[in-house]
Amino acid sequence: MKVIGLMSGTSVDGIDAALVEVTGTGYDVHFELLATHTAEYPMELRERILAVCGGTPLTMANIADMDDGIAIAFARAANQLEAADLIASHGQTIFHRPPVAGQLGYSWQLGRGALIAKLTQTPTVSNFRDADIAANGQGAPLVPPVDASLLSHPQRHRCVQNIGGIGNLTYLPPWDRTGTPPPDIVGWDTGPGNALIDWAVCLFSLGELTYDHNGDWAAQGTPCQALIDRWLTQPFFKQPPPKSTGRELFGADYGQRCWQEAQALDLSQADFLATLTAFTAETIVDSYRQLPRLPDEVLLCGGGSCNRYLRSQLQTKLPNTPIVTTDDVGLDSSFKEAIAFAILGYWRWHQHPGNLMAVTGASQPCLLGHIHSVSDATAIKRL
Ligand SMILES: Nc1ncnc2c1ncn2[C@@H]1O[C@H](COP(=O)(O)OP(=O)(O)OP(=O)(O)O)[C@@H](O)[C@H]1O
Ligand SMILES: [Mg+2]
Repeated sequence: MKVIGLMSGTSVDGIDAALVEVTGTGYDVHFELLATHTAEYPMELRERILAVCGGTPLTMANIADMDDGIAIAFARAANQLEAADLIASHGQTIFHRPPVAGQLGYSWQLGRGALIAKLTQTPTVSNFRDADIAANGQGAPLVPPVDASLLSHPQRHRCVQNIGGIGNLTYLPPWDRTGTPPPDIVGWDTGPGNALIDWAVCLFSLGELTYDHNGDWAAQGTPCQALIDRWLTQPFFKQPPPKSTGRELFGADYGQRCWQEAQALDLSQADFLATLTAFTAETIVDSYRQLPRLPDEVLLCGGGSCNRYLRSQLQTKLPNTPIVTTDDVGLDSSFKEAIAFAILGYWRWHQHPGNLMAVTGASQPCLLGHIHSVSDATAIKRL
């Protein structure tokens, strides 16, 4: 089955589209990557998304417009690729609240699936997080079972580390990929990925730059360990898994507070970027220390894997652990999340549960996502 996975993460840097041929049953799933495309968001739409993620209130009419603007941008991204049998669209998260103290979580992705189905004339799965959250789960991370199917090693303990706007890890104990995944697979959001670094770069460059290319700017500075130690006392890092987070915690307000503390210590902009980057690396490694054992190797993916300074910080903190990217084991690190959603969509289509209860904390296995058929979509032709 040909499936297009569509993903735009917390960085809001663009919509990744991956066309994959998926075969197999259940966890015994295989894929071939046929084509990829990254579509820019229209600048004005990106700014509105970042504003709403930063807490700017919106009217319901504004939300409706944004929902359709995002759906149109996602459909355009899919239409750049050859036709597929199914689209799996993550959508754009504008709000994520993990469950706390008996209250269900809430996670809201815009880009309604019915409109994507209509504009692409392709059945579309969307709203992947809802069912897991309704079952008391975090609704995140959802990619670990896909990581388990595609990246488990028969003898080695692996960590797959995605570094998007937020960082998230999948811990994969050895598995020969037959039967069901081992029960001790875990995964959670490790904290900020590129979110704080991107925020600071945008501030210092007065909006000219959106990220620290290869970590070159941070590499000119020196990390301040005292600040890193202080920031690590944030309760999120000590919270036991399952756990998830987003821009609600690690957004502009958080960055602003960090920058004020750095200025009080006379840090330069480069020192601050070095400190944020080393802090990000420390939060990742700190998560690994909470695993049953340190991994034999780390497979990086997501845009942050291109940040050489971040990688060098990770390697310094894990001196005996090979740190490579998923490209080194045949899985495109830039499109891994889009590929993973294609597989989650394939599982939904074939009625295979997509969540792992040990990862999200859900009380039951769930079918993830709502299917919007093309005939449903024609009902909203007026759009
Ligand atoms: N060459 C590079 N050097 C440093 N950072 C980079 C480079 N290329 C990309 N990035 C970082 O990666 C980010 C985009 O990564 P990615 O698309 O994986 O994140 P995302 O959209 O938040 O995804 P997700 O939430 O699914 O993980 C950019 O915002 C930037 O910070
Ligand atoms: Mg992205």
